[in-house]
Amino acid sequence: MKIIDVGLGNRSYPIMLSAGLLDSVGRELRQRNIAKRYVVVADDRVAELYGKQLLDSLRKEGLSCDLLTFPHGEASKNLTTIGRLASSLALLGVDRKDCLVALGGGVTGDITGFVAAIYMRGIPFVQVPTTLLAQVDSSVGGKTGVDIPEGKNLVGAFYQPRAVFIDSRVLVSLPPAELSNGLAEVIKYGVIYDRDFFDFLAGHRERILQLHLPVIEEVVARCCRIKAAVVAADEKEADLRRILNYGHTLGHAVEAASEFSIAHGMAVAMGMVAANKLAVAKALLARQDAETINNLIAGFALPARIPTEYDRRLMKSFLKTDKKAVGGKPFFVLPVTIGKVIITDDVADELIDAALSE
Ligand code: GLY
Repeated sequence: MKIIDVGLGNRSYPIMLSAGLLDSVGRELRQRNIAKRYVVVADDRVAELYGKQLLDSLRKEGLSCDLLTFPHGEASKNLTTIGRLASSLALLGVDRKDCLVALGGGVTGDITGFVAAIYMRGIPFVQVPTTLLAQVDSSVGGKTGVDIPEGKNLVGAFYQPRAVFIDSRVLVSLPPAELSNGLAEVIKYGVIYDRDFFDFLAGHRERILQLHLPVIEEVVARCCRIKAAVVAADEKEADLRRILNYGHTLGHAVEAASEFSIAHGMAVAMGMVAANKLAVAKALLARQDAETINNLIAGFALPARIPTEYDRRLMKSFLKTDKKAVGGKPFFVLPVTIGKVIITDDVADELIDAALSE
């Protein structure tokens, strides 16, 4: 078992990784004495796939547990689902000493974490992420929340889990599109923080795409180590944590302009390629390095071009209203070399137009 610590003082927590860990989550919870009673929250699909296995693992340790489900998909990530879950918890008599277990992808983690943050003004929760995206990104770091009609993730809280349990074996049931979604975030870590990891990805491309579990587990662990270091240094995204938004500034605008028909990872891949173009245009990044990054993105069958049918003016207006823009000025995370980025809001309009043009 690999254990990575997210160092946040008295709110520090471990990320545990091991193939087959789902069967021993109960034992880990009992040994860590997080709570006596647990409520697992999952969408209907994940509940069907892994709900029983997880509940069995808790019950065989004598831990009391219930399962709450909601319909799968981003459409559930709203305040109505939060209200329903909170009512179900109240009806079950859940109190501040009990613990929620988020079993699923990013939507489930965000919803469950947010309910945990606000139910009775905060109860413990743990994450059991089942998608690559959730394992390498959303389950770590304490961002929780839901969408409102005015925008994605506009209502939420920073609220850290007590532990994250990552079982690489569950990835075998992942649809290929979901794997690609996660791979965009994986490449992101190499570019923003770790040249050696970037080279590892390039060298193990085939095995990663074939979902060779020991390699995948190494990939997930290295991403979690980077994310843990970044979050420990800047939990609330005042400074360093903003580097995790490489490819996301333009990516979010693409996602929004496509009315979310383009998946997050695909949009992030397009956003990374566009950010590289900005970095080259600003003479921050060598053309050769941009090509190396773009080749790795293409090597993982991720898209580079923003489809022409989506309105560029709309994308630019989304850039200005992004929740991370300050005074209508978006910031961009631009590579200066592979493994290092800078954050800047000093990007001329014409350069943005050029980056969005292809
Ligand atoms: N997914 C970006 C972050 O957690 O900050």
